[in-house]
Amino acid sequence: MSETSEFIRVCALDELPAEGGAKAVIDGRDVAIVRTDEGVFAIDDTCTHANVSLSEGEVEGCLIECWLHGSQFDLRTGEPRQLPATVPVAVHQVKVENGEVFVALAQNAPVV
Ligand code: FES
Repeated sequence: MSETSEFIRVCALDELPAEGGAKAVIDGRDVAIVRTDEGVFAIDDTCTHANVSLSEGEVEGCLIECWLHGSQFDLRTGEPRQLPATVPVAVHQVKVENGEVFVALAQNAPVV
């Protein structure tokens, strides 16, 4: 597993949609905070195909779909599951405590 920074409080869990994403800027990095039936995930917000915010995409299970050309990314691994994107997005650690969402940025993860 890659090293991570310290956990930073991002938002209250209630501020996220029941299923979907919201964009947060953490230490200058655009991160999509995504809530699903399986938990809360954090990935880099910018689609690796072009400059589109993934937090605006549709969520289905553990996948988020970029609204522009339909690439899907696995929220658990960042791997693209649907073309045209072929490059993964960085995944960041999330913990939820007392209704608050915290994220630790993956260190050395390039911003694509
Ligand atoms: S910009 Fe996301 S799939 Fe093209």
